[in-house]
Amino acid sequence: SPLVAPDISNCGINPLTGFKPGPDTPEGTDCCPPDSTQIVDFQFPKDEVFRVRPAAHLLSPSYIAKFNLAIKRMKELPADDPRNFLQQAHIHCAYCNGAYTQSSSGFPDVEIQIHNSWLFFPFHRWYLYFYERILGSLIDDPTFGLPFWNWDTPAGMTIPNYFNDSSSALFDSKRNQANLTAVVDLGYNGTPSTTSDLEKVTNNLAIMYRQVVTNATDPTLFFGGEYRAGSEPINGGGSVEQIPHTPVHRWVGDPRELNGEDLGNFYSAGRDTLFYCHHSNVDRMWSLWKTLGGKHQDITDPDFLNTSFVFYDEKKTLVRVYVKDSLRTNQLGYDYQRVDVPWLNSRP
Ligand code: C2O
Repeated sequence: SPLVAPDISNCGINPLTGFKPGPDTPEGTDCCPPDSTQIVDFQFPKDEVFRVRPAAHLLSPSYIAKFNLAIKRMKELPADDPRNFLQQAHIHCAYCNGAYTQSSSGFPDVEIQIHNSWLFFPFHRWYLYFYERILGSLIDDPTFGLPFWNWDTPAGMTIPNYFNDSSSALFDSKRNQANLTAVVDLGYNGTPSTTSDLEKVTNNLAIMYRQVVTNATDPTLFFGGEYRAGSEPINGGGSVEQIPHTPVHRWVGDPRELNGEDLGNFYSAGRDTLFYCHHSNVDRMWSLWKTLGGKHQDITDPDFLNTSFVFYDEKKTLVRVYVKDSLRTNQLGYDYQRVDVPWLNSRP
């Protein structure tokens, strides 16, 4: 049977794998959301303007200002508002650091972990879906689309420069200082690469082709291992989740911090706005992969499709969503700006 959305009132630091309370417990690892008396079932957005998520390195100054303002307002919301910036970051912590068990699915001793399995793509799609709508509502712009960090094209292979402006709401001091303006290494494994920028770009394009095309010839390889009610946390991540998704997290995370904060650790990743732009591009890879045709299709196993999660929406209503409703971005009211995909036709 499918994983059932957690009962959010049954949330805590899980002694199995979560950070244990103690002198070294990072601040804020207790990441349970505010409780809610009601849950509503998801409905597709209606009568709305379509959102086009733009490439982050191509934003106009006015779009950057709009993005910055939305994040600033999110940070200014009361701490216990579920739309608050830190509350939104806590979502990632709660679903990934053992705060929820699978008690609603009948397995109170098994934690929920949405990474390293077929839950990875749909969970993050839903997470961003609500995040984007909250940002849009805070600036009264229903067309607001979450920019994607276009690390799969040469001009997009650095952290977009406005993230480095320390007066901006998009700034985060906990990033690897050596990489603020460097060319990203999509295969980063913890050892800084010593190759030239040109070689890095070439390697990155080869990695993209390998992970999206060569290593993802069927749904299981792309999405990752099965995860059903009772599944233990690790069944094996899909090709893109493993690389470049995780290397990019580690490459941005700050080595001066104990746990690679912010981007380099599950509990803290959502505290850096760059996380959402990184995942916007990861989500775009799901859409791109499906355009390859043939076996490049969504998983049809009912346990996958009927998996549910809960998220707060822009009206602070707790919403229950199903994986089956996440498969088509058009139905969710968004798509990605069309840009060149230089790696797709350049088989190494
Ligand atoms: Cu939930 Cu990029 O990790």
